[in-house]
Amino acid sequence: MSRTPLISGNWKMYLNHFEAIQTVQKLHYVTPTEVFDRVEVSVHPPFTDLRSVQTVIESEEFEFALGAQHCHFEDAGAFTGEVSPAFLEKLNVRYVIVGHSERRELFGETDDMVHRKVGAIMKYEMTPIVCVGETLVERESGDTEAKVLGQVTAALTDRSSDQIAKIVIAYEPIWAIGTGVNATAADAQAVCASIRGRVAELADADTAAAIRIQYGGSVKPGNAEELMGQADIDGALVGGASLHPEDFARIVELAAATR
Ligand code: 13P
Repeated sequence: MSRTPLISGNWKMYLNHFEAIQTVQKLHYVTPTEVFDRVEVSVHPPFTDLRSVQTVIESEEFEFALGAQHCHFEDAGAFTGEVSPAFLEKLNVRYVIVGHSERRELFGETDDMVHRKVGAIMKYEMTPIVCVGETLVERESGDTEAKVLGQVTAALTDRSSDQIAKIVIAYEPIWAIGTGVNATAADAQAVCASIRGRVAELADADTAAAIRIQYGGSVKPGNAEELMGQADIDGALVGGASLHPEDFARIVELAAATR
């Protein structure tokens, strides 16, 4: 299989820029360089840390890709507090998380906004990481596929196969985020396989085989190997454990070992 797993650390609203510099330096120190032959690793600090982390990564020639957690879909305008994808591109940001469940739930990000953001991010040749996932109520009512595939369709619709192949989808069941309870590897695999099936319908089989699908939700060293070993899981979007360099590096190593 030719898909290179992507392990992404979403630092959420944790770590000021001093702490972020220390964290990325320590992460480099504890991550064996061989893993980068087999996996890609991105770190997603808060906006105020991006420039500092970029400077460290570039000046020290660390192999981490710089990521953002969010952006607006317009290039510029009267949008107080928002950040343009054009500004992120100027910081050499490579990956931008879109439609994280926390943004959808707490800040009103809709499927339509996610669709527009995916286009805006790709216009600047950055890669969107599109988050999708169901609540516990939706899972218990048997609505997981309807919810998740609806979000996938909304994000990918009206895009070329070439574009879709470059997008990363992160399947993050909302009930597994920050709870310590992860989806079982079998359940996560089943949903990721359904997502790949929907991509085949929206584009074609080659595109479905190329697109990368991450799992996120309480990924930690103890469960990473089993989750990352699944056929349709191509990496992880890691929250809490990514704040701890030893844990995150271990997750990266375990993901690399599955390839
Ligand atoms: P946790 O790994 O803390 O569950 O967070 C997952 C997440 O939301 C990553 O985007």
